[in-house]
Amino acid sequence: MRRQSLVDKMRRDWDQRARENYRHYIVNCRKDWSEEDFRASGEVTASHYILTDMLNICQGKRPEEMRVLDFGCGAGRVTRSLAKTFGEVHGVDISIEMVRLARQALGDMPNAHIHQTNGEDLRVLGDLQFDFAFAFSVFHHIPSKSIIENSIREVGTHLRSGCLFKFEVQGYLPLRASEDDTWLGVPLGEQDLIGIAERCGFESRHRLGAGEESYWQWFFRK
Ligand SMILES: C[S@@+](CC[C@H](N)C(=O)[O-])C[C@H]1O[C@@H](n2cnc3c(N)ncnc32)[C@H](O)[C@@H]1O
Repeated sequence: MRRQSLVDKMRRDWDQRARENYRHYIVNCRKDWSEEDFRASGEVTASHYILTDMLNICQGKRPEEMRVLDFGCGAGRVTRSLAKTFGEVHGVDISIEMVRLARQALGDMPNAHIHQTNGEDLRVLGDLQFDFAFAFSVFHHIPSKSIIENSIREVGTHLRSGCLFKFEVQGYLPLRASEDDTWLGVPLGEQDLIGIAERCGFESRHRLGAGEESYWQWFFRK
C-alpha cells in the first residue's frame, strides 16, 4: 500500500473509532468506560510510566519548567495527567476526531495544547523544542516500520539534545497482520529498534520487554 494511502487510512480508521466509542478504542480492556474512570486510567498510566521514571525524564530540571510532547495523544487521557505535572504540554494526533475530543477534554487546562498532524511530519509544532516526549499505545497500531521510524525521527527533530523519548512498541514478533491493518501494528525486535535509534539520531539506552506486547524504549536524543 502506498504510504500516503496508508496515512489517510490511519486517520479515517481512528476518526471512525473515535466516533464509535473512543474510550474503548483508546483503552480497550473495557467497553463501557465512564468519563471519571477513563480520566482516572490516564492518571494510572502516568503513575506507572512517568512518575516512576522522573530521574530519566527530568535529568535535574524542575518539571514545571519543562515542555513535554504527548505523541498520539488520543482524547487527551494521559495529556491531562502530564499537564498537571509539567509546565507546558503539547499533544499531537493524526485523527481529527481525537483532536476535537482532546481539545474539549483539556479546555480547562491552559498549559495543554493539542495539534492535528498530517501523519508525515511534525511541522505543525513549528520550532517548538521539547524536554521530554512520550508515546503510549500509538506505534502499537502502526502497520509500517517505515512510518514508525519516520515518526520517531520527527519527534527527534523537536527534542533537545540529551532528552528522552519514552515509548512502547509491539514486541510480540509472531504477530502477523495485513499491511493496512491500523489496529494490529507491525511488531519490532531489538535489532529494528537499535537500527531506528542510530538512523534517527538517538541513543537506545534501555529497552524493557523484548518479545512482549509492550516493549518499552528509552531513546535519548544525541
Ligand atoms: C490507542 S490510542 C492511544 C491514545 C493515548 N496515547 C492514550 O494512551 O490515551 C492511539 C492514538 O494514536 C493515534 N495515532 C495513530 N497513528 C498515528 C500517527 N501516525 N501519528 C499520530 N497519531 C497517531 C490515534 O489517532 C489514536 O488517537
